[in-house]
Amino acid sequence: MNRLDDLLSRLDMTRLPRHVAMIMDGNGRWAKQRGEQRSEGHAEGVVSVRKVTELSSDLGISYLTLYAFSTENWNRPKEEVDLLMHLIGITIERETPYLVSNNVKLRLVGDIDRIPEASRMRLLRCAEETSGCTGLTLCMCLSYSSRWELTEAAKKIALQCARGELTADQIDENTVASCLDMAGVPDPDLLIRTGGEQRISNFLLWQIAYSELYFTPTLWPDFGKEAYAEALLDYQRRERRYGMTSEQIAGDTDTNANTPKAQ
Ligand code: FPP
Repeated sequence: MNRLDDLLSRLDMTRLPRHVAMIMDGNGRWAKQRGEQRSEGHAEGVVSVRKVTELSSDLGISYLTLYAFSTENWNRPKEEVDLLMHLIGITIERETPYLVSNNVKLRLVGDIDRIPEASRMRLLRCAEETSGCTGLTLCMCLSYSSRWELTEAAKKIALQCARGELTADQIDENTVASCLDMAGVPDPDLLIRTGGEQRISNFLLWQIAYSELYFTPTLWPDFGKEAYAEALLDYQRRERRYGMTSEQIAGDTDTNANTPKAQ
């Protein structure tokens, strides 16, 4: 048995996360270690994107969310921004037949209007062509930051109030959640960050309230199916309490539900 099959055989298929989110960090360092340009790291990072998408789909995970380009990434040198935008656009275009044949739906999350037109068109075409897919939903966060998403939600709620459709007293957590770009997607059960840093970097701040966090020093281009399976095994060793006690969880027949039952 190879190492991947060994790891996968140890997974409890009844307790897989429904939603995995990933902060893909370390492309630049991966390239630097090899004396190569940062662009080589990003190109190799695309291979990892394919691997984690494949494994998520094969395992029957419902949602995979990838932090592909943050609002703050616009501040990188122009050549790197241009390259990343081009790389993301042509990759998504090239991978569209794979996504369709594997029943994977692309959902775009973030301030997509800021994406240069050529790449934006490729992304929108893929989202359209995969819109009928019912397997894995691949949420691609582009020009995304959580503070941007929450600010936009606040504007939508303010507008509803101004139009008289909503009063301040009626605003609850569901109101906010329904105004987020990620509306309708269950909160991530597991957030993985590669590249050794232990921070969230403005990613899904609302949605990760009860997510399990997994940090690995592995650089993103080295993060393949084995590393992903290890993260899933680590997740399955955790006890998710949602603010309750272990005893309460032990007596709860629905401990792996994704919706917190207590704060
Ligand atoms: C962070 O590594 C990575 C990014 C800012 C880009 C991530 C994008 C990809 C992996 C390509 C995605 C392609 C598709 C189709 C989604 P870094 O450059 O910050 O690495 P460093 O911290 O080592 O410098």
